[in-house]
Amino acid sequence: MALSKFPITKNANPKQPPADETLSFGKVFTDHMFLMNYDAGQGWHDPRIVPYGPFTLDPATCVLHYGQAIFDGLKAFRGPDGQIRIFRGADHSARLNRSAGYLCIPQLDPEVVEASIRALVGVDQHWVPSLAGTSLYIRPTVIATETFLGVHPSASYLYYVILGPVGAYYPEGINPVRILVSEQHVRAVKGGLGAAKTAANYAASLYGAEAANKQGYTQVLWLDGVHHRYLDEVGTMNIMLRIGDEVITPALNGAILAGITRDSALRLLRDWGLRVSEREIGIDEVIAAAKDGTLKEMWGTGTAAVVSPVGELGYQGQRHVINGGRIGEMTQRLYDAIVGVQYGTGPDPHGWARTIGD
Ligand code: COI
Repeated sequence: MALSKFPITKNANPKQPPADETLSFGKVFTDHMFLMNYDAGQGWHDPRIVPYGPFTLDPATCVLHYGQAIFDGLKAFRGPDGQIRIFRGADHSARLNRSAGYLCIPQLDPEVVEASIRALVGVDQHWVPSLAGTSLYIRPTVIATETFLGVHPSASYLYYVILGPVGAYYPEGINPVRILVSEQHVRAVKGGLGAAKTAANYAASLYGAEAANKQGYTQVLWLDGVHHRYLDEVGTMNIMLRIGDEVITPALNGAILAGITRDSALRLLRDWGLRVSEREIGIDEVIAAAKDGTLKEMWGTGTAAVVSPVGELGYQGQRHVINGGRIGEMTQRLYDAIVGVQYGTGPDPHGWARTIGD
């Protein structure tokens, strides 16, 4: 779908993008946003690009009460060649629809979702930063907009896309983060919403994350909600570890997000001929490996976090330092390979990056 397909109302008061060196995560937004409405009986209609700005919502709008909301997160990168590349846009569009399914939100045309993102990035392309480690974060979102206080799926929705230039998600940047294994709190359970990218999962993570922050940890490693034993995910990223020569990540069990960076990392590791297992992994196995020295490295994967080394794991009052608190060899190799695809500085054997001119 061509950029000209969507009507554009230009922002009459465009802002000056901030200097790349000042960027953190999620605080600055560009001049335009993409909107499209859904109404029962009419389907998705009125796709358009308009100036970025606030919405007016009736206080009884159902998303504000029952959380029928989904989103996704992807990035556009400006390479040293000046080209802007979007990483795995079609896969993110497909995932938005999977999230929609969990939340009883009507399916979107994935080609329109991808085209909306590409068109919006095209309009605001001068906002894509170029400093290494920076990118343009893209947030497609769907909210339920019907005005009612009964609990049932909304009859109307708003799909919107906003963009913002970002730096590293964690203040640590590529330096290892410290993670606390949550013994009490639960993010999601099988049969619930854990596999959807929905506001509820992030709301559920706040209390445990605050408790972890107070103890000096950056993030929480969530265990499964039934046994409190098996690793699920970190909430802001999927988790992977290397015990001996086996790379392990929790299998997609219905309670964790099917990360696109997770999938990218697994495909690269398999390309490299490494032993990769997607399986249940108990925290007892991880702690035993940390104690006997076979836990070689641990890292998280996510769009915002990219590939983020874990330097310390806290569990049952004990701190387990991993790889001397330094980034591991495999973590660095994965980081370099994925970033190389994103900025166009390395090979892209799977065709994951698509320039916006294509
Ligand atoms: C992402 O990685 O894109 C996410 O949505 C995670 C969020 C914590 C920023």
